[in-house]
Amino acid sequence: MTTAKQLRKKYINFFKLDPRNHVEIAPAPLVLENDPTTLFTSAGMQPLVPYLMGRPHPKGKRLVDSQPSIRLGDIEEVGDNRHTTFFEMLGNWSLGDYFKEEQLSWIFEFFTKELGLPKQRLWVTVFEGDSQVPRDQESFEIWKKIGIPESRIIFYPASKNWWSMTGSPSEMQVGHIGGPDSEVFFDFGEDMGFHEKSNLSGMKCHPNCDCGRFLEIGNSVFIQYIKISEGQLKELPQKNVDFGGGLERILASVDNTPDVFSTDSFKEIIGELEERFRVKYGKDESIDRSLRIIADHARASTALISCGITPSNKAHGYVLRRLIRRSIVHAKRLSDQIFMPFVDLWSCGVPISRVDREYVKKVLDEEIEKFERVLETGMKKISTIIKNKERISGKVAFDLYQSEGFPIELTLEILRDHGVELSQKDKALFQEEFEKHKERSRTTSAGIFKGGLADDSSQTIRLHTATHLLLASLRKVVGDHVVQKGQNITRERSRFDFPNPEKLTDEQLRKVEEMVNKAIEEDLPVEYQVMPINDALSSGAIHAFDERYGDTVKVYFIGRSWKDAFSREFCGGPHVKSTGEIGRVRIKKQEKIGLGLVRIYLAFDK
Ligand code: ALA
Repeated sequence: MTTAKQLRKKYINFFKLDPRNHVEIAPAPLVLENDPTTLFTSAGMQPLVPYLMGRPHPKGKRLVDSQPSIRLGDIEEVGDNRHTTFFEMLGNWSLGDYFKEEQLSWIFEFFTKELGLPKQRLWVTVFEGDSQVPRDQESFEIWKKIGIPESRIIFYPASKNWWSMTGSPSEMQVGHIGGPDSEVFFDFGEDMGFHEKSNLSGMKCHPNCDCGRFLEIGNSVFIQYIKISEGQLKELPQKNVDFGGGLERILASVDNTPDVFSTDSFKEIIGELEERFRVKYGKDESIDRSLRIIADHARASTALISCGITPSNKAHGYVLRRLIRRSIVHAKRLSDQIFMPFVDLWSCGVPISRVDREYVKKVLDEEIEKFERVLETGMKKISTIIKNKERISGKVAFDLYQSEGFPIELTLEILRDHGVELSQKDKALFQEEFEKHKERSRTTSAGIFKGGLADDSSQTIRLHTATHLLLASLRKVVGDHVVQKGQNITRERSRFDFPNPEKLTDEQLRKVEEMVNKAIEEDLPVEYQVMPINDALSSGAIHAFDERYGDTVKVYFIGRSWKDAFSREFCGGPHVKSTGEIGRVRIKKQEKIGLGLVRIYLAFDK
């Protein structure tokens, strides 16, 4: 069995080697700083957008990495053998350097020679063209030359073979970049009877079919366009390649199993669950489904908590809460134990340290406890209904779900155990409410995803620099234990979390605010140095706990010189040129957010 670590290393080395000569870059955190428009990093290209648009990248024109990512669009599908919310995306980029010819032959060489995937199992897809962009004949010819027979090169429309953060050319948001793409699929074989077993039986099977026979293992996007207005695409100044391939899926192909949950990436966690719940994976479809959901959601939750997210009813926190609760519901299905395993993995690009491990466990335990109370209340309500032999309506079932957070699966199951079934009419009513609810949450997350790109607005940049001043001032006034545990910046305010047993006193708050504003009044220059990581660490520059850095790092310093700088912090930028640009700020609010964390909101003083 190939391990995840081996595969990651093979891919990165393959692209580093001559003649490909890529430079490895550190993955971005799962929650991007300064990006109020996107909940999570969902593709390796996301942090690279400015460079795909033409800004020179400090590491050159050929980059490679492995980016932990979260995609929520598939959350309802987790439970089958291939969908996950959290995954690692292997990625390589040409920033206006090589193009289709090199990319397609290299990726083919990687799959077939490096990984030994049988050539005859690979199918590829290309863009068939539309009214604005021509058919990708070039990729078709290249694939043929490489040795893929025409019968396994399939043309698809933009809905399948066009990539941007916001979909096809007509769906794409103005300002977004994208282009036609070419995907590689691994074929697990007709003889496995996927099509017959799925509800698609009788229809024609093809790479993008949902029956499970084909698994997409890589996508080469030729990012070449920017949408400048509705109905209008413009060529970018450079032609880019953006490749992304799911590590867990590639592993499954290497192992010749259509089930990503039986690969090395999930081996440990599934093993732990089997032991804990005394079940065996791979024997019963409904048990497998629960095990997969718990395994996936536990990986995603661990990763999110280690990025500084805590469960709540809003945005990131809401997603985390939903993942934990859904996982607990499935744990309950398997036994009466409420258990959520801790998973050691690349979370924000770092293996979680021992200290953070304790922290993650604490957050999980607190949420589980809360949810147990919810379950208790819900159970009481249901028991009363059962005892009084009341008819349970679709509306009541939905309210239990909606207001108490009581999962519908559980409601139905408990009722069934007591011989109570919802009438067909009530089931339909429930389903109707449920669909409306799903649609609402889909549009909320679609809304959030729409922006999609790092916010480069001047307000956000000014608040970003102000946040460096805030951290430096907090450390001077409150103590060196103050580190960044979470940060989120919008155009209106910066939210900053740090560990402290109590809220700050009024006196401390006043002092911090004064110190920040003094540094702004002094109009201090903001500059950076790129230096070896060890020098940066020994210089005492502050670094966020959850970031992983490459060999060299960028350290921003605010002050007349590096030596007597007011603040020195690891950061990718961007920042204002001098602090005077920020304008006066004020601390708008502080809160205790539990687990020893204090949250401060900093805003412009208007
Ligand atoms: N950006 C492309 C994707 O996410 C590679 O599929």
